[in-house]
Amino acid sequence: MKEFKVQPIRNGTVIDHIDSGKALDVLKILNIDETVKSTVSVIMHVQSAKNEYKDIVKVEDKELNPKQLQKIALIAPHATINIIRDYEVVKKSAVKAPERVVGIVRCANPNCITNARTELDTYEPVEPEFIVESVNPLKLRCVYCDRELDDPEKHLI
Ligand code: CTP
Ligand code: ZN
Repeated sequence: MKEFKVQPIRNGTVIDHIDSGKALDVLKILNIDETVKSTVSVIMHVQSAKNEYKDIVKVEDKELNPKQLQKIALIAPHATINIIRDYEVVKKSAVKAPERVVGIVRCANPNCITNARTELDTYEPVEPEFIVESVNPLKLRCVYCDRELDDPEKHLI
């Protein structure tokens, strides 16, 4: 008999094998705040089978969009995305960081073209773009100003 620390869900998405400590970043990526309208369960620092710790986030009645999946791949490279329908896992996939990310992380360099402002004080229409040099540890280099981004998880758009 399987033991569940948190109740299984009927429908929705379970993001499992999140690197321990990253669940709160995942909640941010999913825009989960006090206005949330789906049931969300967060389990932090649970022992995973491989004798390591992990976090889990379960969001009922929701699936993730491609940008959210890319962001999760960057900050939680071991995560699996489980789609649940009628209590069954109908799809399981590992996240995979792309070689380049466009429009999901902002450059920290104030002089970068991607941070330039127009007269109307909106951003110039240059989407931030980074080369993913490594995932573990996460290293992103701006395509436009060539700077490596410190603390990329703090610069998610
Ligand atoms: N889960 C859930 N509700 C369900 C079914 C599964 O919350 N109705 C959760 C499980 O608790 C687990 C994740 O979804 O965290 C994946 O489920 P499953 O594939 O059954 O678990 P494992 O085989 O342990 O997954 P893995 O091999 O990916 O570790
Ligand atoms: Zn830049």
